[in-house]
Amino acid sequence: MTPDTRELALRFLNPERRFDRQYYYYARSKLATDPLYGGVSRALADGPNLPILDIGCGIGILLHWLRAQHHDAAYIGTDFDARKIEQAQQALARSGLANARFEVGDAARGLPPHSGHVCILDVLQFLPDAAAQNALLDQMIERLAPGGKLIIRTGLNDGSSRAKITVTVDRLSKLWGWMRALPQHYPELAQLEAKFAEHRLTTEFTPFYGKTPFNNWLVVAQKPKD
Ligand SMILES: C[S@@+](CC[C@H](N)C(=O)[O-])C[C@H]1O[C@@H](n2cnc3c(N)ncnc32)[C@H](O)[C@@H]1O
Repeated sequence: MTPDTRELALRFLNPERRFDRQYYYYARSKLATDPLYGGVSRALADGPNLPILDIGCGIGILLHWLRAQHHDAAYIGTDFDARKIEQAQQALARSGLANARFEVGDAARGLPPHSGHVCILDVLQFLPDAAAQNALLDQMIERLAPGGKLIIRTGLNDGSSRAKITVTVDRLSKLWGWMRALPQHYPELAQLEAKFAEHRLTTEFTPFYGKTPFNNWLVVAQKPKD
């Protein structure tokens, strides 16, 4: 069943700062229009119940969607933007959800200890180049438990007009002040395939455009169970 997206988004509204509604409107629009969280939830439902590390979690919308879909595994969200982590922590406190935490962390400088599933949603493009992305992919794959899934949403650098629109909107997000950094490098399909093959992961690449003009893909790479 689809969660009540308004009720979830209200957790991002600070009752003492009711005029400041940007996080509420952002959460509401993402929850209502972006197929991402439903896609992640379906990918997780089809695997073992393991702790989740959400890298570049932003304000933590994924956690609220997952819990509303009855995923009760432990959750850690990290992001290098301290403002977003503060919002995520406040929304978590308002929600009363248990077994979850948010912390500031720069994925380019290392990841917290973890064993389970790993999500990285709309983040890879902020790393400077393929080498940095590959180093982070190695670290994320090290943190997969047997049967654990690495769930990535990313634009792919394939020269399509969708790819060009994705880059332009990312740049505008920086100009509007929503994003702290400009996107730097979109991965190529062959780069991801080679990395997953090196680690013997089974993989699934699904175009994930929804009703958007973006070149988004949902990539699920699973570690063997034994
Ligand atoms: C487009 S937002 C996606 C937020 C969240 N994953 C979601 O889908 O709801 C990208 C996020 O990646 C974070 N980010 C970018 N580079 C990062 C890095 N090196 N380490 C941690 N977070 C990073 C940004 O601060 C931002 O919150």
